[in-house]
Amino acid sequence: RDVVAFHGPQQAGVSTAAQDRLAFAAFDVSAGVTRDELRDLLRIWTDAASRMAAGEPVSDVESAPQSPPRDTGEALGLSAANLTITFGVGPSLFDDRFGLSARRPAALADIPAMPRDELEPDRGGGDLCIQACADDPQVAFHAVRNLRRLAQGTAVLRWFQLGFGRTSTTSSAQQTPRNLMGFKDGTNNIKREDTKSLATHVWVGPDTDQAWMRGGTYVVTRRIRMLLEAWDRDFLADQEDVFGRRKDTGAPLGAETEFDPVPLAAKGEDGAQVIPADAHIRLAAPATNGGITLLRRGYSYTDGVDQQTGQLDAGLFFIAFQRDPRTGFVPVQRRLAQSDALNEYIRHTSSALFAVPPGVSATGGDYWARGLF
Ligand code: HEM
Repeated sequence: RDVVAFHGPQQAGVSTAAQDRLAFAAFDVSAGVTRDELRDLLRIWTDAASRMAAGEPVSDVESAPQSPPRDTGEALGLSAANLTITFGVGPSLFDDRFGLSARRPAALADIPAMPRDELEPDRGGGDLCIQACADDPQVAFHAVRNLRRLAQGTAVLRWFQLGFGRTSTTSSAQQTPRNLMGFKDGTNNIKREDTKSLATHVWVGPDTDQAWMRGGTYVVTRRIRMLLEAWDRDFLADQEDVFGRRKDTGAPLGAETEFDPVPLAAKGEDGAQVIPADAHIRLAAPATNGGITLLRRGYSYTDGVDQQTGQLDAGLFFIAFQRDPRTGFVPVQRRLAQSDALNEYIRHTSSALFAVPPGVSATGGDYWARGLF
């Protein structure tokens, strides 16, 4: 009932309905690991992930009393909670270590530095990533923890981010949730029912330079801290101008209800634009970016107190899927970083990019990124 199919032409966790909780981990492959050992890890990971997504322990082999348990145990008795485990490979995997440089897709180009970036390198990048989403935080955590354990000796954790409260709707059956600024988030997102938009903007097509990425996608993650103390002092009308939407209903300024078209051309009696020139939804909209459309699937996060300022370290762990970041996230973010009214209240503190290969077939011993080897 609460199981999301693991196998299929595409990986789950992209266009499947967004769950409530996130555990996202990036790994670096350890020094001296060979290409065969890397491939073995992906086989072992895929097998374990397919079991966990079905609500089963990581292994069906009984644990021996004189060795560590095969599953860490904290998800025993819990349901699958719609767990999805999504796998990706970062640009750094394509250096000379594994002889894979000729397999690097052109679209997997490092995200360039952006104006206003305040990136912490230890929280970004990585050779491999695992995005685990579930409706139970313990189930999502268990998935990452056990994959990390299986990678012992082959890959080490580079960074890890927990998220709570999805900040996006990816299905028209879902209500639009609110982000930590109190605004509905995900209104104008691609919905899974819109398979045409997914095919055009999210899934990699036959035109790719790397056949192993056909049917895959690319994910960009950005840890975006919100300066909540400053935001909470801002006037309501100004907060609404920042986004270009009403805080209570989520309706665009100058419109009536949440899903009304955004009146980008409308002018008030004073001749000024109803959706301000620097409003987030004006600058991010496909209509003002030559049609660029992202699938957003981010989560709120909080990591306690910033010891330097005594302020909350909280915000949005932004996740966006697209078929080519060079013509997706990068130009939109460059524009936002220059002029978005939201910039006064946010700081981008991490950045990562991964190629998300197509899904895994249930037969034939298939595994994540098999086409890479
Ligand atoms: C729309 C919040 C960062 C891209 C929105 C909306 C909100 C929001 C409340 C309006 C509702 C909706 O249509 O989803 C935020 C917050 C951010 C953030 C709080 C940072 C903390 C970003 C970034 C990007 C982005 C970094 C891409 C580079 C978009 C897009 C839309 C949107 C494409 C839809 C615009 C439209 O077509 O109407 N965002 N956002 N956002 N945001 Fe963001």
